Amino acid sequence: MKTISAIAGMTTLAFLVSLSGTLQAADVDGQIKYRQNVMKALGGHIGAADRIIRGQVPLKDQLRLHAAGAADIAAILTTLFPKDSVPPEAEFAGATVETKATEAVLEKPEAFKQAALKTKETTAAFLAAIDDGADDRTLAKAFREIGKSCKACHKDFRRK
Ligand code: HEC
Repeated sequence: MKTISAIAGMTTLAFLVSLSGTLQAADVDGQIKYRQNVMKALGGHIGAADRIIRGQVPLKDQLRLHAAGAADIAAILTTLFPKDSVPPEAEFAGATVETKATEAVLEKPEAFKQAALKTKETTAAFLAAIDDGADDRTLAKAFREIGKSCKACHKDFRRK
């Protein structure tokens, strides 16, 4: 009797371990995919705003929508990089999808936080400039500052 329940217990344990392994790997992949989707949304807003700023689209009343979307996303950037979803931890955590995040995200957490903060600040400033009714030149200048902040982070923390 004891042997049977011990075997049953071990089987259950083995099942739970295999299940948690599967779930964990799926979560890590999900985290990476989620991050990439959110970044794409950020890139989408910035790309769309760029068309309006360049005067290629007569939809200036939609500029605020993109600025607000970008600012909202910029404010949560640092939540998109849980340890397990970034190399080298991601490999150990069983990630099966590719991430372009570099190891520097974990190696230089302070610089990474500052880079994210810069995008948060520049997108907030751009949104504020729109709400203040700033002229086109001022808007274009504020917009360029956002672009610089994206590039600065990608340079150190995203693989080509
Ligand atoms: C704090 C760092 C940081 C900042 C700031 C940042 N990014 Fe990123 N971005 C990354 C990293 C890291 C990746 C790679 C993510 C991955 O592959 O897991 C990435 C990926 C992307 C991608 C590719 C998404 C995909 O997988 O298709 C786009 C587009 C993008 N970022 C746009 C932007 C834009 C636009 C800005 C500025 C408004 C910005 N990013 C600001 C770190 C940053």
